[in-house]
Formats: sequence, C-alpha cells, structure tokens
Amino acid sequence: MFLSKIGTPCKFLSSTMEYEHETLRKHHPMQEPCNSHIFHIQFSPCYFTVRKKREIEIPFYNAWIQPYSWLHDESRNMSPLKSLPAILPDPLLQVAQLARLDRRPEKIDLTIGVYRDQHGQTPVLESVKSAEKHLLETERTKSYLSTDGVEQFCEEITGFLLPRGEVTCSDIVTIQAVGGTGALSLAAEFLCRFTKNRTVWVPVPAWSNHVPVMERSGLTVRRLGRSDSLGRRDFPAFMRVIRHQARPGDIILLQPGCHNPTGDDWTDEEWSAIADACIASRLIPILDVAYHGLGRGLHDDISRVHRVFSQAEIAFLSYSCSKNFSLYRERVGALIVGGLKRGLAMAIHPHLSAIARAAYSMPPSHGGSIVGHILANEALRRIWIDELADMQNRLGKIRSTFACHQALAGRDLRHVADGHGMFTLLPLSEQNLIHLRKKHAIYIPSSGRINLAGLNAGNLSRFAYALSQLNNQSAVSA
Ligand SMILES: Cc1ncc(COP(=O)(O)O)c(C=O)c1O
Repeated sequence: MFLSKIGTPCKFLSSTMEYEHETLRKHHPMQEPCNSHIFHIQFSPCYFTVRKKREIEIPFYNAWIQPYSWLHDESRNMSPLKSLPAILPDPLLQVAQLARLDRRPEKIDLTIGVYRDQHGQTPVLESVKSAEKHLLETERTKSYLSTDGVEQFCEEITGFLLPRGEVTCSDIVTIQAVGGTGALSLAAEFLCRFTKNRTVWVPVPAWSNHVPVMERSGLTVRRLGRSDSLGRRDFPAFMRVIRHQARPGDIILLQPGCHNPTGDDWTDEEWSAIADACIASRLIPILDVAYHGLGRGLHDDISRVHRVFSQAEIAFLSYSCSKNFSLYRERVGALIVGGLKRGLAMAIHPHLSAIARAAYSMPPSHGGSIVGHILANEALRRIWIDELADMQNRLGKIRSTFACHQALAGRDLRHVADGHGMFTLLPLSEQNLIHLRKKHAIYIPSSGRINLAGLNAGNLSRFAYALSQLNNQSAVSA
C-alpha cells in the first residue's frame, strides 16, 4: 500500500465543528461536510517553529491547505516564508483518504492503483517474503550504496527486460530509481538539461502524475491525442501530431500497455506505427511501464519496448516494480537508457548519477535487493512469475465478469472487457460520485477511473446495482 500522507483518524471536536464545516463548504462546495471527516494531524516541524508544538483537529479536506490559514498575523510576521499560497490537495489522494476513513463494512474502495486479491487485501508476495528472509540472514552491512543503487538489481532487471538477443541497442545504462515516479523524474530532469526543445508530448488522457512530474523538471508539456468520455484512443489524431506537429528532438511520453487511466491499449499494429513514426520524426521516447505482466503477460507486455529500443537513436524506459512485485512502499523502479550510437548511453550515465546524487544521493536498498534476488534465483523467479500470472488472471476475470453485469448496471461496459491492466474509466459526474459515496459507500476518484482490483465476487453485483441507480437518479433529476 502507499504510505498515508497524513495521520490517523481520531476523535471529533464538536466545539469547532461549525467552523470546520463552514471552511469545508467554502473550499469544496461540491462536497457535503460530515463529522467523520474530522481529522487529527500534527503539523510539520517548520510549522512548529512558528506556532510551538501543538495538535489541532481540522477537517480532512483542509488538511493540506489549512496550515497557511492557521498562521495568524502575529506569527506570520515571524515566519521566514513571505507567501505560501494555498494549493488544492491531490484529488485522487483526497478521495482515497476519505475511503480509508469510512468504517462502513460494505465499503468498496476503487481509488488508489494497488492490486487487491479477492479478499480486498494487498498481500506481500511469497517470493518477496522468501527474498526478505534471505536478506535478513545474509545482509552484512547497511553502508551506503552507489548512486546507481543495488548492483544485482541493475544487472538482473536489465537482462530480464532487455535481453541482448531481443534488443539491438549498442549500449544500455540502468540506474535504480525511487519507484517508477523517480525514474520518470530522473529522465525528465536529464532531458530538460540536455535537449534543445525542452518539450514533452504527454497523451490525453494520462496518469494524473505525468504532467506534474514533467513540469516539475522544467519541461514544457504539450498534449496530444483526444478521447471521448471513456478515454478511448484516437489513433489518427495521435499520428497527426507525431508526424506534423512534433519537432525533431521533442520528447514523447508513452505507455506501451495497461494504460492508466483507461486500460484502452494500442493494438499491435497501432503501436508499431506509432513507434515507427516517433523514430522517423526523431522524437525521444520515454516509455512508462508500470504494470509489466498485468496486461497480456510478461513477454507480450515488454516486446513493445523491444521494438522501440531496437530502432531509436536514444530511448528511455521508466520501469516500476511497485505493482508487479507488490512492493509499493519500498519504492523500487529503474531508469534504463538505450542508444544505437555506441557510447551515447554510457555518456549519459554520469549525468544521471549526478542528478540522483543531488536529489537523494542513492535509492533505498531493500526493494532493489529483493527484486535483484528474485530475478537471480531460478526457483524464486518461477514462484514470482506464477504469483504475477495469478494477479493478471484475476484482473482479466474481473473485466469479463463486470462486463457481463452491463444489463444490471444499465450501461455499456464492453470497453471494460476489451481493456488491459488494472483500470477502466466510467463517465460519472461529480454528483454521481458523491451519490455513490454517500448512499453506497463506493469510492471512485473524480476522473472516473476505477481500480478494477477493488471488485470481487462479494461486491460486483452491488457495484453494478449502484451504477444502475445513478441512471435512475439522473432520470429523476432530468
Ligand atoms: C502509468 C504509471 N506510471 C508510473 C507510476 C509510478 O509508479 P511508482 O508507484 O513505482 O512510483 C504509476 C503508478 O501508479 C503509473 O500508473
């Protein structure tokens, strides 16, 4: 599971309730305040220096924006910060936190992108447990790693993802990253420093963190593609931009499969055409692979990357081990750079190391050591592959079973059956989402993206029924 952003829920403060609700309504007019949103947080150390250590109770909704408004004039004069504008919380984390707070036993949480088994759990894999046991017994030091991370991890993951026989780049460089997000960040920062155009094309729709990560590095983000309310791909529009609008040296951020948030992947033919057009237009691809093995399978999911790495002058692979190794909070991923020109990727390596060194010095060792050991150990690797295949099969079954409920749900769900990976989109209005939360304890982010792994035999029919009630609801209000 992802680490929680703020503290644990606790008691209500009825004396401040009126004030809290008023603030809540002001900032979030669409959301009905409710007492269960009262939250207990401790402010960060920098706030303590201004206000002295104390605990206060504030509504969950305001947890991210409240600290500023709690700085009274007197304390603000003492603050080293001139201005600290309020920002809105990440809408996905916000609704995930609401789901965590809801104690109703029938709750269905379809928010954060974590795999869940049929019991709604995100268990530690057996292969991971065995690797951890091995580490506990054999680890002899906690001394620093290099900026590249765990050597065995870098070696094993490179050989596993880009075996020499399948990929014909001249050289490849791998650096362990702080999850897939860290890998994207490293790539973006490097490309912002060393490309002339400093422009990245990010498809519509995209993972909600793609644009923030690219912009944080200083790149200019341009969008390509177009989609309907189900986020379905528009191949001709996509190709037009690649061929006619993007300039040589621009960057393009692509998800080869298990598209987040839609699950609507390119066909093989479309992917080949996109890869060829990117190469012909001399774009620099960043391939974001965060669900390897959860779509068509380990081989087919990565073969799309092989095609690009075998042809591109330079290509970046951002790889996350969060989902397929179920190692979310260990923050393990990799950035792999491949190039056709001998020496190019090698020349890039010290720059990536320098960026990592300045940002965080080195990645944590635990997750990388686990993945490295699993991949290096034949028996453990087999166990992991079986565990991954179970996850993939379960997701496939949920897709087809949910799609079979379309009559009950009263809406077309064929796109769910056709999709791949963990997600699908449902066109739901803000009112629909609030209705689902309040009446049915069903939590879906404002984008309408559904984590299908949150569905199981025990809740699928109820979810479909709740969707059908939305149809009635809009019919009544129409
Ligand atoms: C498409 C995509 N890329 C990258 C990531 C980042 O993964 P990580 O949690 O390893 O940082 C995610 C996580 O949800 C994702 O969906």
